[in-house]
Amino acid sequence: MVPSAGHEFHTKSGYVRGKLPSHSLDWATRPATFKEYPGKESVPLPAPETSGGPGIWESLRKRRSVRAYSQVPVTKQELSQLLWATQGITARLRDGLRTAPSAGALYPIETYVCVNRVTDLEQGLYHYDVRGGRLDVLKRGDLTRAVAAAALDQEMAARSAVVFIWSAVFPRSVWKYLDRAYRYAYMDVGHIAQNLALAAEAIGLSTCQIGSFYDNEVDSLIEADGVQEAVVYLSSVGRAARK
Ligand SMILES: Cc1cc2nc3c(=O)[nH]c(=O)nc-3n(C[C@H](O)[C@H](O)[C@H](O)COP(=O)(O)O)c2cc1C
Repeated sequence: MVPSAGHEFHTKSGYVRGKLPSHSLDWATRPATFKEYPGKESVPLPAPETSGGPGIWESLRKRRSVRAYSQVPVTKQELSQLLWATQGITARLRDGLRTAPSAGALYPIETYVCVNRVTDLEQGLYHYDVRGGRLDVLKRGDLTRAVAAAALDQEMAARSAVVFIWSAVFPRSVWKYLDRAYRYAYMDVGHIAQNLALAAEAIGLSTCQIGSFYDNEVDSLIEADGVQEAVVYLSSVGRAARK
């Protein structure tokens, strides 16, 4: 059997006893942890509410992937809480430690949101500024059709209130972990997406993870080159049409 590309990646990024990659870390060339959009307009978000709500067990028990959403918008406050749940800084060590774990605390994942129905927020594409708790405005207008088309024409992406788009900035993690960094980026985004799903459940919203998408199309939406930065996962968010 000819090894598939997936198998080849898995084996070539594997650790073998006695053959661990040995390279010294060059701190002078360590990639920046945060993506910035200097000169772009940004929108402040209300401070997230990070206490109260149902217990973790209830959220775990009730979480379900939901693909049909009502027309009732998500509030800016709710969006702020969801963004914080995915990437919020919770400890002031190094560049900050976050709600979701990350291999080596290198945080290769960036968060973008395609906003469809959020109160007091124009439709458009935004980047989440983790440190500032703000949204950088990247594109204005209704991008829901473009996102749904890129997500293999999955209608839920167009009907949801918000679509989270996560990219991996691979060099941040490759700097330390070389080929294995790609595995870690995929793991990191899984943690982030689950945080989103549980946080959404806790505030009465619903999500559906989206792993099926045309990579080049979602990459071009966020203007990622697909090499240094590539979209790795999406999630639609909204109020369930029926629950
Ligand atoms: C990695 C991954 C990719 C997924 N991609 C999609 C997708 O593209 N479209 C979709 O409708 N559901 C997608 N899902 C949701 C799964 O279909 C769903 O989690 C599964 O059916 C179990 O249902 P539950 O989430 O309600 O427990 C994805 C889930 C995961 C974990």
